[in-house]
Amino acid sequence: MVTKKVIRKKILKKCFATAVTPAIFFTSQTLFTLNEIQSKFVGQHKPPIKVQAKLDTTFSKTGILEALAKKEYPIFEPNEPTSFYTEKELSQFFIIKTKKVHDHLQIICQHSDLPGYILKLTVQSKNCSKANDRNISRVTGATQMRDYCTQHNFEFIVIPKKYLYHIPGKNPDLNDNNYIVVAEKLDIMDAKQSEQNLIHCTNTAISQLKTLIKRFGYKDVWFDNIRIMFNGGKITIIDTEQFKGFDNKNPKKWNSYPLLKNLDGMIGKMKLNKYLNADTPPPNTPPMHPKAFPKTQGIEKTVMKVVFPGLF
Ligand SMILES: Nc1ncnc2c1ncn2[C@@H]1O[C@H](COP(=O)(O)OP(=O)(O)O)[C@@H](O)[C@H]1O
Ligand SMILES: [Mg+2]
Repeated sequence: MVTKKVIRKKILKKCFATAVTPAIFFTSQTLFTLNEIQSKFVGQHKPPIKVQAKLDTTFSKTGILEALAKKEYPIFEPNEPTSFYTEKELSQFFIIKTKKVHDHLQIICQHSDLPGYILKLTVQSKNCSKANDRNISRVTGATQMRDYCTQHNFEFIVIPKKYLYHIPGKNPDLNDNNYIVVAEKLDIMDAKQSEQNLIHCTNTAISQLKTLIKRFGYKDVWFDNIRIMFNGGKITIIDTEQFKGFDNKNPKKWNSYPLLKNLDGMIGKMKLNKYLNADTPPPNTPPMHPKAFPKTQGIEKTVMKVVFPGLF
């Protein structure tokens, strides 16, 4: 017997397949729409078919993300029930990092069936009134930076591919509640090794990195996000999240405030220069305790707050 749920699933599938037309979705209470740009964006950033199939197997039952959030952060109260999951299913996830962001829990993890990929997802808490879109902005950042690197022959920079996976059963609105970001996993040095090795990169590689930071207003410059790859020593920006200026109505666009973008780029470059201009230790001295890039705090942040009230 064909149930309502099956029919709805079929309609959703069809809407996603026709990536260009504006999509309209109905549920029993609400009407959800994706505008033309959003539809196209979702269609263009689907994971490869084999990966999609494995994701479908993993996420087809409702509540797994909520169960995972609860397991990792027991006091977290998810917005949806966490039932149906066994400890065995949950143990297939390997957690890399969790972070509480406002009323969301962000989880960066791997799944044993998807060894070449990193999953970046958020789970909304019960008290949260508004969905976020910071997580999905990673896809825009990665796509735009990758395209820029290709167009400008930046052969020393690698940006991992990032895809958007729609979680079965969730509504299609383009926000962090409904989509998981799937990133190509790169073979990278850890933060400390990357910091120690950045200094050995060629001037061309450093200059390409600086151009990218400035062009995209990338200010989240520190070694958790900027790594060196084992194979070939290229530089990679693995974290392409946008903190301000991302508009999910036009997800193809990166940072819609040009002034903010310029300032962020300057801050990013400043952080990088601070490290690069630090004294180089004489040869044969043991490696120094790694210096982390400073976060935007203190005077920088105060100045920004005065110049751009409301944005910082
Ligand atoms: N593409 C990738 N390849 C390999 N490891 C990754 C990749 N993306 C993220 N990671 C790992 O996950 C961690 C957190 O990812 P990141 O995107 O920086 O999340 P956050 O926004 O929470 O800082 C990184 O420090 C790194 O260890
Ligand atoms: Mg990071």
